[in-house]
Amino acid sequence: MTGNHPPVDDWATDFDHTDLAWAADPFPIWDELRQTCPVAHSDRYGGVWLPTRHEDVAAIAYDTEHFSSYDVIVSDDPSVFGPPVGMAPPITSDPPFHAEARRLILQSLGPKAVADLEPVTKAWCEELLDRVAGQDVVDAAAQYAENIPARIVCHILGLPLDDADLLKDYIQLELVDLDLMDRPMPRVMMLEYLRDAIMDHQANPRDDLTSHLLAATVGGEPLQLTHVGGTMMLLIIAGIDTTWSSIGAAIWHLAQHPDQRDRLIAEPDLMPVALEELLRAYAPVTMARKVVQEVEVGGCPMKPGDWVLLPFPAANRDPEHFERADEVILDREVNRHATFGLGIHRCAGSNLARMEMRVALETWLERYPEFSLDDPAAVRWAGGQVRGPRRLPIRVR
Ligand code: HEM
Repeated sequence: MTGNHPPVDDWATDFDHTDLAWAADPFPIWDELRQTCPVAHSDRYGGVWLPTRHEDVAAIAYDTEHFSSYDVIVSDDPSVFGPPVGMAPPITSDPPFHAEARRLILQSLGPKAVADLEPVTKAWCEELLDRVAGQDVVDAAAQYAENIPARIVCHILGLPLDDADLLKDYIQLELVDLDLMDRPMPRVMMLEYLRDAIMDHQANPRDDLTSHLLAATVGGEPLQLTHVGGTMMLLIIAGIDTTWSSIGAAIWHLAQHPDQRDRLIAEPDLMPVALEELLRAYAPVTMARKVVQEVEVGGCPMKPGDWVLLPFPAANRDPEHFERADEVILDREVNRHATFGLGIHRCAGSNLARMEMRVALETWLERYPEFSLDDPAAVRWAGGQVRGPRRLPIRVR
C-alpha cells in the first residue's frame, strides 16, 4: 500500500518514500543516490531531505541541536504537539526531557522483562504454526510474523491479549498517507481505546507498564495523561510492525537461500550473529527529524521546518562503512549496524526485538526445515518508514 502521491520520475529531486518502487526494492535507488546525489531533496510533504551515506545519517542522528524529534513521521498532516515532549515520549522528545521520559520505560523493556516474556513468545509462535498445520503454503507475514509482536506489546502494557488484532490494524505506518478516517482503525478510535485502557488501570492498578507510568513522577509531578497515552501509543507503533517486518524479511531471505537456511539449522550457535546480519541487511525502520536551526549536511543547506528522513536501512548498505554491504554474510564478524538507530533515541526495545526475532525464527525452522518462496510475484512489501513483507506466501512442503 502506498499513498496518494504521483509516481516518482527523478529520485534525486522528487523522491517519495511511499512510492511503489521504493517499497518493492529500495536498494538500487539508495545505491544510485549515494554515488550521484548523497543528500537528495524533494518538494513533497512541504520539503524533505534524504541522506543515504552512513556518515550523514549518523551526523544527523547524533545532532539534537539542529534536528528535533518532535515529528518523526513524514506526512502532509504534521503533529500538533511541539518540542520538547512531542506526541509519543520519548521518541518524539528532545533533551533534556527525553532522558526522563526514556528512563520511565527502560525497566519494562530490560533484560529481566525480556527473559520473562520468552516463554509466552515461544508458546505463541508454536500456537500460530499449529493453526496453519496441514497447509502446503503458509503466509509467513499474515499468518505468522505480524501476529507475534502485537501480543507481546499487549502483555507489556497490560491490555487484553485479544486486542492484538485491533492494535495491528491501527499501526501500519505504510498507511501514513491515507486520510486518518480512511485507515482500518481511525486515530480517534485509537485515542478512545487508550483513554479507556488508562481509566481501567487507574481503577485497577496492576504490574504492567501502564500502571507504572500512572504511578511515576517527573520533577516531583505525576505524568500528564497525554504523556501516559503517548508512551502507550509509542510502544504500539514502535513495537509491532517493526519486529514483524524483521521476522518476515528474515524468512523471505532464507526462503531464497537454502544453503544459509541449512547452515543455521546445522549450527544453531550461529543464530545471534546471523540475526544481526539479517537485521543489518533488511533494517525496516527509517525515522525522520525536523530541522530547528539552519545547518549544512553534505553541502546542502537545511532550513528550520524542513523534514529530514533518516534511512538507517540505507546507512547499513553503505559500502564505505560495510565490506560487501550488499551481501548477506551470516557470520559477518564486525557488524555495527544502524538498524536500531544511532544516538540518544537508539531503540529502547532492541533486546525485546532480538528475542522475538530469535524465537520466531527458531520455531519456524524447527517446524519447517525446508521451505521456499511459493510465488515471488505475490510477495508484497510495505514501503514508507517501516519496510517489511506484508504478504509472504511460503511453500512449506
Ligand atoms: C526489529 C525491530 C525494531 C527495530 C528495527 C526498531 C528500530 C528503532 C529505531 C531505528 C529507533 C530510533 C528512532 C529515532 O532515532 O528516532 C527506535 C526507537 C525506539 N524503539 Fe524500536 N525498533 C524495533 C523494535 C522495538 C520494540 C519491540 C519496541 C518496544 C516494544 C521498541 C521501542 C522503541 C522505543 C521506545 C524507541 C524510542 C527510544 C527513544 O526515543 O529514546 N522498538 N527503534
